[in-house]
Amino acid sequence: MANSIKPAALAALLLCCAFTLAVQAQAAAIPVPPPPMGWSSWNSFSNTVDSQVVMNQAKAVAANGMQKAGYQYINIDEGWWLGQRDAEGNIVVDAKAWPPIAEGEQPGDMGNIVRYIHGLGLKAGIYTDAGADGCSTVGPDLGPSYPRTGSEGHYEQDFLQFAKWGFDYVKVDWCGGDKENLDPAIQYAEIARAIAHTEAITGHRLYFSICNWGKHSPWTWAPNIGGVTADVWRTGGDIVAPIVAGTKNADRKASFKEVLREFDQAQHPEAQHSGFYNDPDMMVVGMPGLTNQESRAHMSLWAISGGPLLVGADLTRLSATDLATLTNPDVLRIDQDSLGLQCVKVAEPAAGLEVWAKPLTTIGERAVLLLNRSASPGAISVAWRDLGLSDGSSVTVRDAWTGKDLGEFASAYSATVPAGDAVLLFALGSEGATTAYFPEQLKAAPASGQTLALGRDKQLTFAHVASRFPIARIRITYTNPDKTARFAELRVNGRIATRIAFPQTGGDGATGTLSIESPMETGGAKNILAFSVSGDPGPVLQSISLQ
Ligand code: GAL
Repeated sequence: MANSIKPAALAALLLCCAFTLAVQAQAAAIPVPPPPMGWSSWNSFSNTVDSQVVMNQAKAVAANGMQKAGYQYINIDEGWWLGQRDAEGNIVVDAKAWPPIAEGEQPGDMGNIVRYIHGLGLKAGIYTDAGADGCSTVGPDLGPSYPRTGSEGHYEQDFLQFAKWGFDYVKVDWCGGDKENLDPAIQYAEIARAIAHTEAITGHRLYFSICNWGKHSPWTWAPNIGGVTADVWRTGGDIVAPIVAGTKNADRKASFKEVLREFDQAQHPEAQHSGFYNDPDMMVVGMPGLTNQESRAHMSLWAISGGPLLVGADLTRLSATDLATLTNPDVLRIDQDSLGLQCVKVAEPAAGLEVWAKPLTTIGERAVLLLNRSASPGAISVAWRDLGLSDGSSVTVRDAWTGKDLGEFASAYSATVPAGDAVLLFALGSEGATTAYFPEQLKAAPASGQTLALGRDKQLTFAHVASRFPIARIRITYTNPDKTARFAELRVNGRIATRIAFPQTGGDGATGTLSIESPMETGGAKNILAFSVSGDPGPVLQSISLQ
């Protein structure tokens, strides 16, 4: 449509559809589901996981302050099932590894451990593979190789079983799928449908975690696989090599280099929005290999990335320092911020010296990471302009780890960061001016309260959109009176669409804003954002605004 408009008409349209707002009369930011926090068995227990291991770890989370800090999932990874099924195809587990825990329980019932975990006020996670075989026949493991530990051919049956056992979370690996050369977008769509089917039958929602190590770019399809959605998807390989026969846990060393690699591979800010998350892998804080300083930097990286915080350490042996690293409330607030956005690299003043920023819910607040990847200490400066904060007023800076107020700064803040370390800050100032855009389909300036609802077959376009930043934060003002999310797909400049979940904004036509991030063309009003409905009805969109 934009191409067919004559210059005069275009000028009129631009006039009617774009307004610069120096002061933001903004609707409230609607909170989105935060990334999951919890513990996972794989990094420290490999396939030796059993009921006793899981009980001990769950007890530790409940007792050591992690649960209070927000950690809630106890996730059982590979090794819980040795591939046996009964004549009806139901999963059969080793009764010795999963015995009764409370009176009246049956041996070999995974519901036993779920009830135990739930009894502590925690949530339970389980694991399978998208292929016929799981990882046991592929990767080196501690125990013998056991085939057929995947769910292929049994998707509906297995996910229904997981829900009936009471599990809240399921991680689906890709070893078997990879071995069979399957297409992950197709297999995981089938699995998402099986999970939706399970929810329809049981009313129990399984949080869905895709683990295919970033193959075939899951961030482009996982938020929208056949109208169903995954909650989190892994973006890279394993953060630490598995324990193999003949080695002990203590022999395995996590390394900061691998931590950085996983962080880098997880950066897809255009896909991390409205409650869907890039997963840089389970954490290695508390495992051998990292210094205390590196553990803190690792935590800073996961927090600013807004990644799932799934601790892979043996929690019964956690040092007080590591526990403090994992439970710092201000750092957790950055990870769990209710805008649900990922960080963006906003400056690289010299090779290896980087500034990363994540918008937070409080208006004018950013989390800022000054990262030094180089081998010597370096001074790194962050300019308010690069954060989208107003240059005109001073900005309050606070150290996220110590809570120390570092003062007010006029246009930038600078710190010397040790080699291989990071400084994590809060910066609180005023938002820079934004420009608001209205749907082209309105044709003229919207009358007060005039909106356009996304209905079936409808597309709403915002054209001639200018952006100051190569990766821009876009605030979408909308209405959704329902109790659950409404969905729309957004295509920016004709690129692959991303599926956005619009949470409820409240009754009586209340409006709210949802923030997303997207690569944009800078220099001129060149961008086109096209929303289309997926599921009927869609949200009622009012405007978008960005700097
Ligand atoms: C890998 C996965 C790990 C762990 C392991 C179990 O494919 O990335 O996180 O689940 O399998 O074998």
